[in-house]
Amino acid sequence: MSDTVRELAVDLGERSYPILIGQGLLGSRDLSEYVQGSQVLIVTNEAVAPLYLDRAKSCFPGKSVDTVILPDGEKYKDWQTLNLIFDHLLQNRHSRKTTLVALGGGVVGDMTGFAAACYQRGVLFIQIPTTLLSQVDSSVGGKTGINHPLGKNMVGAFHQPEMVLIDTDTLSSLPPREVAAGLAEVIKYGLIREIEFLDWLEANVDRLVALDSPAIAEAILRSCACKAEVVAKDEREGGLRAILNLGHTFGHAIETFAGYGNWLHGEAVGTGMIMAADLSAREGMISREQFDRAATLIKRAGLPELPPQGMTPDDFRNLMAVDKKNVDGRLRLVLLADLGKAIVTEDAAAENLAATLAGFCRCD
Ligand code: NAD
Ligand code: GLY
Repeated sequence: MSDTVRELAVDLGERSYPILIGQGLLGSRDLSEYVQGSQVLIVTNEAVAPLYLDRAKSCFPGKSVDTVILPDGEKYKDWQTLNLIFDHLLQNRHSRKTTLVALGGGVVGDMTGFAAACYQRGVLFIQIPTTLLSQVDSSVGGKTGINHPLGKNMVGAFHQPEMVLIDTDTLSSLPPREVAAGLAEVIKYGLIREIEFLDWLEANVDRLVALDSPAIAEAILRSCACKAEVVAKDEREGGLRAILNLGHTFGHAIETFAGYGNWLHGEAVGTGMIMAADLSAREGMISREQFDRAATLIKRAGLPELPPQGMTPDDFRNLMAVDKKNVDGRLRLVLLADLGKAIVTEDAAAENLAATLAGFCRCD
């Protein structure tokens, strides 16, 4: 284990919590101080349990630790699978003092958090994210929920964790495609808010793809710091927080069209950010050179640049119409006013959106 543990705070008054980032934390950290009563339920999945469940259990010495192992995959981020958590809690008589622990990627994290928000009207939970995407994004900020067949993440709640434990060693077992998916969200922070971070990413993206430890630790720290700052300013997405959705309006449409799990969330966000950058250029907000910079970085991370074969502009329009950012039927998009500066707008010209969709869709 490396001695370097970096700590950040998500500053939300009485709901503030720490994010601990380091190597070898899982299994060596006692997390009992974040548990209210004597009961703990670790929620994980079939892929992660054999790798990390024993180490996670040992973080709660002296507690009564139960586990529930869900099927693996985005297609199981649904009511039926969520109910397995409630079944387990009730069958094993977990009280309202129980603490849920999410051990896995964003799917497990979002579902466990939502179960914690609902069980007996709300119990504590801890996030132990094990994918790059969940370490830089989904474990922080308290968005929890499940998918609906008609729309991604459409049923959920805001519910903040007690703490987030990021053990960067868990990334060693992550397939390259999942690493690339996580890098999409890392690049997002550079594009929306942190131009110096974008410069750093351009210089270091090859090290990140190769999971070079110091580079990955730096990227996680800077990503979490950016997310924590935005969430502290706008926890419930009254305004600013919506910029964290750069590329997500296009991306959620791609994920839903492709069928949950066929495109990874991060892959869809990567393509979606290229499309959002293209629209920003058509709107005259960024130059074509800036668009190229953004698109090149996203492609260097190993992410796809085009949506699925056969997806039409109408498919995009229909699916984007149910985006959570929309108000009174008006499409709201996150665009780039500059590299390192995102804005939310309802004012994108219809002909520019049409040109972006036509330019990216391969519907021959
Ligand atoms: P995921 O949870 O499906 O994990 C990806 C795959 O990696 C899964 O097969 C998983 O079992 C496996 N895995 C997890 N950890 C591993 C490890 N250490 N080694 C090997 N395999 C491992 O996907 P994800 O990319 O982590 O998360 C995507 C989800 O997160 C989406 O549902 C998305 O909507 C959600 N999300 C939520 C927020 C939020 O703010 N709540 C933000 C971004 C994304
Ligand atoms: N991933 C977007 C958000 O947390 O707001």
